[in-house]
Amino acid sequence: MERVVLVLFLGFHSIAAGQSAIPQRCTVCHEKSAPPLSLVYRRYLMLYSSKARIEKKMVDFLTAPSKEKSAMPEGMKNRFNPQNHPAFATSVAKEAVDKLIEKEDLIPRIVVPKD
Ligand code: HEC
Repeated sequence: MERVVLVLFLGFHSIAAGQSAIPQRCTVCHEKSAPPLSLVYRRYLMLYSSKARIEKKMVDFLTAPSKEKSAMPEGMKNRFNPQNHPAFATSVAKEAVDKLIEKEDLIPRIVVPKD
């Protein structure tokens, strides 16, 4: 029974979160060759804690990517070269980051019902 409730809840959420899907211009890499955005988000969350700072740091990076601005661990920087990350206009970066924060923020709200 617990399982059923959880599945229904998740199903509803993905419909409700329909318009907050992360743009394809990001997932084209981040669901394949690049580190998953949920992992990137957790790294930023650990370093910067507040949503406002996460947003600022991500948008700063995405509008003019560089090794210095990268928040990734050294090993990842050497492997992926953040300075080669595609750059985006501020509005595009901001919209994508907002969607990312919104999506990741749903996760702590998922409650497994106990009886
Ligand atoms: C061409 C492939 C590609 C595309 C397109 C792409 N990314 Fe990335 N992204 C990467 C790779 C590879 C990394 C890991 C290396 C790095 O940190 O830059 C990365 C890292 C990141 C990071 C962490 C940056 C850091 O180093 O601190 C963020 C945030 C990010 N991407 C967000 C986005 C968003 C949002 C979009 C869409 C607007 C996007 N990416 C589109 C390949 C891509």
